[in-house]
Amino acid sequence: MQNNVIVSCEHLMRSFTSKDMGINHVLREINLQLNQGDFVVLIGPSGCGKSTLLNIIAGFDKPTGGTVMVRGAPVRGPGPDKAMVFQDYALLPWLNARENVEIGLRLQGVGTRERRCIADEFLRLVGLGHAAERPVYKLSGGMQQRVSIARALALKPTVLLMDEPFGALDAFQRAIMHKELVQIWKTTNASIIFVTHSLEEALFLGNRVVAMTPGAVGLTGEISIDLPRPRDPMSLEFTALKRKLFDMITAHIPDRTETFVE
Ligand SMILES: Nc1ncnc2c1ncn2[C@@H]1O[C@H](COP(=O)(O)OP(=O)(O)OP(=O)(O)O)[C@@H](O)[C@H]1O
Ligand SMILES: [Mg+2]
Repeated sequence: MQNNVIVSCEHLMRSFTSKDMGINHVLREINLQLNQGDFVVLIGPSGCGKSTLLNIIAGFDKPTGGTVMVRGAPVRGPGPDKAMVFQDYALLPWLNARENVEIGLRLQGVGTRERRCIADEFLRLVGLGHAAERPVYKLSGGMQQRVSIARALALKPTVLLMDEPFGALDAFQRAIMHKELVQIWKTTNASIIFVTHSLEEALFLGNRVVAMTPGAVGLTGEISIDLPRPRDPMSLEFTALKRKLFDMITAHIPDRTETFVE
């Protein structure tokens, strides 16, 4: 295996069994490789298994078949090498921004002074150097999500997993966060898997966009995006890619419009 392979999913399967519904084959034959520095966006309609796949890579869930490896080692459970950023931030509201960023470091046994130093470094990276001592419940949604990103990055993860992290933000906040995330990705050379069901978000952020459809065997398709950054969602090239991606996904689902946010 090449050195720059960060995540490798091979023949991954995940099914859920229930008495009333029988077997639900959510992931079948998923093969995906994330290389160092990749920004992969997973896109697909609600229920196609995006979170399920991310949770398996994070080690929160186990596949019913196939393998998932991070840097060549099988994933056996969660750990700081696979940091997750959730849609609902998952912060502790009674702690301040710095204390929230320090949580993972504390679990790793990093000492008080070093912890503080690392937390402040990553708060500055996400533009919150001035808000380290503000309780997070007093911060806006966008600021809370920045704390959550700083907390994940402070662990210096091998892979950063993001499950619809900007889904709860308004369109303006989201546009700001998109630009900032691209900047953070460039600065830190992070390897990212980002989940969304917004075509625009996928095409703005990713250098690879991977499409999934509910009930499909395998991934539906992949587009490499080499448009210069910052990307202009109004440009002809961007719009043409949006069309291509939309057609790629909707060709495999019965209703062409219902499941997309935009
Ligand atoms: N723990 C579970 N037990 C049973 N079924 C589950 C479980 N987790 C997920 N599923 C099922 O797996 C399918 C995929 O769910 P998942 O949350 O991965 O979809 P998603 O693509 O992330 O959707 P969304 O865009 O709405 O977040 C759904 O049918 C869901 O009901
Ligand atoms: Mg989901």
